[in-house]
Amino acid sequence: MAPSILSADFTRLGEAVRMAEAAGADVVHVDVMDGHFVPNLTIGPPVVRALKRITALPLDVHLMIDNADDTVTWYLDAGADMVSVHVEACRDLAAVLRSIRAAGAKAGVALNPATPVSSLASVIGDVDYVLVMSVVPGFGGQAFMPVALDKIAEIAAMLRSAGSSAEIEVDGGIDETTAPLVCAAGARLLVAGNAVFGRPDPAAALAAIRAAGASGTDL
Ligand code: DX5
Ligand code: ZN
Repeated sequence: MAPSILSADFTRLGEAVRMAEAAGADVVHVDVMDGHFVPNLTIGPPVVRALKRITALPLDVHLMIDNADDTVTWYLDAGADMVSVHVEACRDLAAVLRSIRAAGAKAGVALNPATPVSSLASVIGDVDYVLVMSVVPGFGGQAFMPVALDKIAEIAAMLRSAGSSAEIEVDGGIDETTAPLVCAAGARLLVAGNAVFGRPDPAAALAAIRAAGASGTDL
């Protein structure tokens, strides 16, 4: 589970991360938006650096920014353990992925709902995970787009046939209902914002989504 702090109370981020840690989160998902690639502006390297000081969980930094080529090192220097960049937003995707790995972090490629799976083909050897967007990025709390299910299955098959052990992460509209579906399709890391932090008991919600996802792997 990768709870997205985008839906947490920004005045109490530390508490949100500690809650996620205690509830058994695997990583903390940090949504970075630049107001250009997506129509929203969120947080940047200083917040990543601050989070790094207060948690031992890996920081899963999702860069929804144009030209990550120029700024990815800011996030690596701030302590990101996993960094995903959008295939639609990099000038030299393979070079960005290699620079993430060279810094000792896991390199991820993110795909918007409308972006074809074929856009991964040329970088498959450079990725540790693929982030499948199941909403148009920019905002939390949107409805899951079922088109992501076929895409996850297609990417899983592509990774298998390439002999890649890269994992599939899915992001957008994940809750107890959609978690089993994406896990059955082949996703292994689930991002959830609103369905965790928008609930009265976020720790219980996180555990429920994890359990629902695990049930999907047995389908
Ligand atoms: C959307 C972000 C997501 C977002 C997911 O652009 O990348 O990580 O926080 O939020 P929910 O789970 O509310 O759809
Ligand atoms: Zn995200």
